[in-house]
Amino acid sequence: MISRIGGDEFAITAIDANLDSKEIIMKRFQDRLSEYNRTQNKDHQLSISIGATFYGPDEPMTFDELLARADRIMYESKSGKRIHELPAASKEASSIASKKIKPGYFAKTDVVKLLIIGADQKENNLIAKTLDQTTPPTIAVEFASKLEPGMKRLLDGGFSVLLLNIGQSGNLGIGIIKTICNTVPDIPIIIIADEKTDNELMINLIREGAQDCLIKQKIEKGRFKRSVLYAIERKHAELELKNNLHNFVHVLESTIETMASIVETRDPYTAGHQRRVSMLAESIAQAMNLSEEQTKSLRLAALIHDVGKIKIPENILSKPNKLDRHEMELIKNHPVSGFEILKAIKFPWLISQIVYQHHERINGSGYPNGIGDKDLLIESKILAVADVVEAMSSDRPYRKAPGIDKALQEIKEKSGELYDPAVVEACIKIFQSHSPPVLK
Ligand SMILES: [Fe+2]
Repeated sequence: MISRIGGDEFAITAIDANLDSKEIIMKRFQDRLSEYNRTQNKDHQLSISIGATFYGPDEPMTFDELLARADRIMYESKSGKRIHELPAASKEASSIASKKIKPGYFAKTDVVKLLIIGADQKENNLIAKTLDQTTPPTIAVEFASKLEPGMKRLLDGGFSVLLLNIGQSGNLGIGIIKTICNTVPDIPIIIIADEKTDNELMINLIREGAQDCLIKQKIEKGRFKRSVLYAIERKHAELELKNNLHNFVHVLESTIETMASIVETRDPYTAGHQRRVSMLAESIAQAMNLSEEQTKSLRLAALIHDVGKIKIPENILSKPNKLDRHEMELIKNHPVSGFEILKAIKFPWLISQIVYQHHERINGSGYPNGIGDKDLLIESKILAVADVVEAMSSDRPYRKAPGIDKALQEIKEKSGELYDPAVVEACIKIFQSHSPPVLK
């Protein structure tokens, strides 16, 4: 089933597919695209970003959640964090070689400094000789036989690209590639593998940060140089994108903070509530070892989780008396209103989903949809606990604050019924620690 989700983005839903079919579908895309670029679109090479995800019987989720996850993966793929094209080494080599390097990207007088790290110097020399030096830019090659001195030279600066000759054994751990990427994040790494090198290892090396993986027996003079230059250009594009993304994220964060303050201006009795919930939710996420990305999504979602209240008339929001049924219904609609507001913004995080679910409970007794444990995001489960704990610690127009002890007692009693036990445990531990959070 193919549907358009906006602009030039499309979603393909493969019902009854499995992980193998996902790989097959993506490979078909890559093949068709290569063919199209080769035969019909020589002047304007088309590129696509694919975010593919899959859910199985153990991980039920709604279509929107599935789409949001695929969207997030595609976003990460665009920002260079993951590779979701099939990077089978030989395939990758030929597809990259056929790609165009932007005209004028390298000046004729440029000298591209390249370092080859590899234990076998004979092989290193052979690799260096395969670089076509008849056309500009010139490639100045240096060598290192071991990783440590090689890294030292890279850090001394001046190199544009690193070739890592991993030898026949492919004896290079994933950890090493991560270390290199972290140490010299600006330098593209090309792995030179052997045709006997395990394909999975090569894929993982690319996934962990190598720009390219070439099989030394299949390297061709002209293509090799283009692959090296293309890797540099691609790395530069990735760094530029990361930089732009960083600025974009900064603007988004400021927007969220502004939106949060607008909500709190209209609802003075809960002023500071979102900020305090956000702080507590972040602490719980860290205690539960959620990923950095998840923690950030949660922190931002919590900061704005009641944004839907912007649609509730002020006199209802600040009413000191008990609300009637209709008023209560309106209040209970705020996660939906929040979702409607936030879903229109293309956040790189699952913010709208987290907000949508923050009043759901694991036994399905929450609102707006009464969904249960398996359909709830862990971020929403954390937000639900942080929200309740903070709310019970603060005064409201219609009641005095029951206090933190009562709040912790409440989540403990309802652990496993309304609240996720692991989240409750983490929250209680935080308040029992030497420096418990102060919800002010
Ligand atoms: Fe709320």
